[in-house]
Parts: sequence; structure tokens; C-alpha cells
Amino acid sequence: MATNDFNDRMLSLGLARVSEAAALASGRWIGRGDEKAADQAAVTAMRDQLNKLQIRGTVVIGEGERDEAPMLYIGEEVGTGDGPEVDIALDPLEGTTLTAKDMPNALTVIAMGPKGSLLHAPDVYMEKLAIGPGFRPGVVTMNMSPAERVSNLASAKGVSTHDITVCVLERPRHEDMIEELRTTDCAIRLITDGDVAGIIHCAEPSTGIDMYMGSGGAPEGVLAAAALKCMGGQMYGKLTFRDAAERGRAEKAGIKNFDRVYTRDDLVTDDVIFAATGVTDGSIVPGIKREPGYFTTETILMRSKTGSVRRMTYRNPVDRSPTGRD
Ligand code: FBP
Repeated sequence: MATNDFNDRMLSLGLARVSEAAALASGRWIGRGDEKAADQAAVTAMRDQLNKLQIRGTVVIGEGERDEAPMLYIGEEVGTGDGPEVDIALDPLEGTTLTAKDMPNALTVIAMGPKGSLLHAPDVYMEKLAIGPGFRPGVVTMNMSPAERVSNLASAKGVSTHDITVCVLERPRHEDMIEELRTTDCAIRLITDGDVAGIIHCAEPSTGIDMYMGSGGAPEGVLAAAALKCMGGQMYGKLTFRDAAERGRAEKAGIKNFDRVYTRDDLVTDDVIFAATGVTDGSIVPGIKREPGYFTTETILMRSKTGSVRRMTYRNPVDRSPTGRD
């Protein structure tokens, strides 16, 4: 029976199935050179599964505005229409190029929280800064230069700057920042795409990444903040605008202060649940395994209320449609 409370314990298992279904659908497109088909498969499967959850859900971070995305657009209502009112942030395939080229760290990602808990981030860039858990608040901030952040984090960890690894999206717009980081003697892990995974890396010691910085999609920033809220860690985000049209998008999304630096808890203001399933192999979750007769996925499922991080393996027969499941 549906209840009107945001029962994150029960809903989280449903969320994992949504994420798995999207991964299984896009998995058929790994390494096929077709980003659009991979994304479309993930979108369709994610939407089908979401509509089976007993929620009154609204997509607040989705595939785009209603007029540009036919499915999972911002404002689309999803779920069975009874149960709790929830906001949903999703990226059915985070790393479309990674999937098309069979490169590491493509994920399906979804977060859910009570209505009003997730920033309605417009589709513009966001300047991001993240570190893992265990540091005093403000040990690194947006006001500091990249070199100062490395030096402060190294002092807080009691190591030399040589022992700090910073993750950065490899883009021409980050060249100056990378040049400055090089002067500190830190290591830089350059990624070609996928900054949700890039930020989650900071909270997962096995990745060896201490800090994430640079600009990427603002919607992805909210998803990353949801993950860090579950795992622990600090994050800051500031929207950036290239032109008046982008400012217009922000206004439409209800943004009033264009210069605001959002903390993790401004981006995600209440307890959330978060699920991500590996599409291609990655440092957070392995990708889909193809064995004769089966596809197997791994999902990381987290709840901020308890800080629980669960890893779930799911084996699905290839001759059955993942979206046809109960
Ligand atoms: P897609 O999944 O749409 O390919 O986006 C991947 C991504 O790398 C995000 O992780 C990141 O936030 C954004 O694109 C960066 O945008 P840009 O490629 O314009 O620098």
C-alpha cells in the first residue's frame, strides 16, 4: 500500500531497479559509436521503470525542457500517481560518448528526495569544487585559487602537495587551471567526460582522488551533490553563464541570485536516495558484464539519512526485455 511519507528505505530498492533498467538498455549500445541510440534506450527504460514506482514524482533535473525532450523532461510527472510527492534528478546515461566509445565510467544516475529538496538547476555550466569526508568545513573554498586549494588540502591531510590528486575534466576552458595546478606538483587525473563520477571519486578512497574542480553541467552538479550527501564530503557549485539566453534559462528555473555559491546542502536540502549503475567499467562500479545468456549489472545505492552504501548485483537473461520486468 502506498504511503504519503517519503519512505526512503523502501523506495530505494525501487530506485535501484530504475537505474538497472536504464543501464541494461543502454548496455546494448556500448562501443557501437551511436551516442543518441544509447541515450534514447536508457531514457525509455528509465521512464518505464519510474512509472511503476508508487510515487507522485516530478522530474526536476532531466533530459531538458519540455519542448526539447519528449521524455523525462523537466516538469514531467512520473510514477503511479499515488504515494509520496517526490522530486527526481536523473541522468539516464551520464557519459553518452563514453558509452559509444566503450570508455570507462559511464553510469546511469538517479536521485530522489521529498518535494522541494533538489535545486532546479538550469542547463548551464556550473563551476564545481568537491572533496571527500573528514575535513573541517571550508578547508577549500571557491574563493581560493586552485593552488591554494591543493596546499590547504595537503596541510589538512598532513601530506605534501605531491601526494594530492585532483580530478579535472579535460577541456580547453580548464587549461589555465591545469597549468596552475601543475605548479603545486600535485597529480591530475584528467577525465574526458563524466563529472558525476569524477566528484563521487573524492568520497571513495580506493580511487586515489582527493579533490575535484572545474566546470561541467549544472544538472550533473545536483546529482553529484546528492551522492556526496549520502557518502559525506564537501561540495560547492556556482552557475556560470555564457550569454543572455543562458541567464534566461536560469531565470525560468527560478534562480534569483546569479552569483550565489551553493554548498552541497543548498543543492540538496533534505535527505535523498541515490542510485547509479555501471554501464562501462569504472572506478566506482564495474560496467555491464556480458556472459552467454546473461547481462549482469552492479548498482551503488545510497541513503543520506543513514549514510548507507549498498552494492547490488543483478543478473538478467538477455532474451528478456529489462523493461518488461514487474
Ligand atoms: P553527456 O552524458 O551528456 O555526454 O555529458 C557528459 C559530461 O561529461 C558531464 O559529466 C559533464 O558535466 C558535461 O558533459 C560537461 O560538458 P562539456 O562536454 O560541454 O564540457
